[in-house]
Order: sequence, then structure tokens, then C-alpha cells
Amino acid sequence: MIKAITRKPSPLDASALIRLRKSLCSETDFMLFETDEYSPSLEQEIDFINRFNQGKNSTILVSELDGELIGFLAAAGSSLRKIRHSASLFLGVRKQYWGQGIATELLTQTQQWAKSIELKRLELTVSPNNHRAIALYSRLGFETEGIKRCAININNRFEDEKIMGWILS
Ligand SMILES: CC(C)(COP(=O)(O)OP(=O)(O)OC[C@H]1O[C@@H](n2cnc3c(N)ncnc32)[C@H](O)[C@@H]1OP(=O)(O)O)[C@@H](O)C(=O)NCCC(=O)NCCS
Repeated sequence: MIKAITRKPSPLDASALIRLRKSLCSETDFMLFETDEYSPSLEQEIDFINRFNQGKNSTILVSELDGELIGFLAAAGSSLRKIRHSASLFLGVRKQYWGQGIATELLTQTQQWAKSIELKRLELTVSPNNHRAIALYSRLGFETEGIKRCAININNRFEDEKIMGWILS
């Protein structure tokens, strides 16, 4: 088992985060961006980090191993009063490190953060084919709430997505 450090990124991590997210786009079809759709400037990535760090009900975490970032999770909350009790998650881990608990640690820390600020709900969408992710979310208490039909276009084939949510009780 490897021992990655899970921590909040600072603007100094922007170029490493770009490298990580670019790698994720090319390693898996389960991230939203296609490879040529993600090419931020350093300033844009710094802004991305700052927005998630500064938002009251948003957060961002990275996993670091030997000075390189190998995973990240972002939780996006809204400032609107009717939905600010909820945050949407997106996450990814470098393929060579799958199955070693990296995402479990990212999600567990995010659930602790949600509890600490009394967020009521975490949500995400996931491909029904993403068995690894679904197994992970289910193990951590996320439940399937529904299906978004034809939510994703993969090579001109419309595919459904599962909506999963975790409620702080
Ligand atoms: C989904 C993802 C974040 C999981 O990261 P990870 O660091 O490998 O996750 P963990 O090691 O913490 O846990 C993975 C779990 O899936 C299980 N698993 C592994 N292969 C599996 C498979 N083929 N089918 C079902 N479950 C599987 C593991 O057993 C593990 O559970 P366990 O700890 O109870 O054994 C990672 O695979 C990833 O980045 N995928 C591509 C991007 C992505 O899918 N992002 C999420 C979009 S919603």
C-alpha cells in the first residue's frame, strides 16, 4: 500500500494540478473533459484552486506522492440559499495508483469536511459502467437516487448517468 499525502492545494500546485488533470483526461473516459478540451493557463488553474479553497461550501483536495500529484477531488457548492446546503463532487486518481485507497481517503476527508460545516448533502453523477467508482461510493454511504437519461455523448452514442447522493444525518 502506498502512503500518499492528502491535503489542500495552494496556487503553487497549479502546474502540477494541470499535469494531473491532463493525464486523467487521456487515461480514462470517465472524466468529463476530453483531452483537447482541457488546456488552462497557469492563471486559470490558480483561479480554479482559489475558487474552491475560498468558497464557503466548496473545497478541493489533492493526493501527493513523492512530490507529484496523483489524485484530486473538488466539491462545488452554490452561494444560492436554496441549494447551498449541497455540493457536487468530481474526482480522479492516476490509473497506475487505482485500487490503493487514494479516492477513499479523498472522499472520507470530504465527508468529514461536510460534517464540520454542516453541509446536508454531497452528490455526483457516474457512468453505470464505472463499477469501480460505484462500488467505492456505495461503500462510503452514497445511494443511487436516479438516472439522467442520455446525459453523456460518447462517440455519438448517448449514454445514461447514475445520480448518487450522500445525506448527512
Ligand atoms: C473511481 C476512482 C476515483 C477510484 O479511485 P481509487 O483510488 O482506485 O479508489 P479506492 O482504491 O479508494 O477504492 C476503489 C474501490 O473499488 C474496488 N474495485 C476495484 N476494481 C473494481 C471493479 N472492477 N469493480 C468493482 N469494484 C472495484 C476496489 O476494491 C476498491 O474498494 P475496496 O477498497 O473496498 O476494495 C478512480 O478509479 C478513477 O480516477 N477513475 C477514473 C476517473 C473517474 O472515474 N472518476 C469518477 C467519476 S464519477
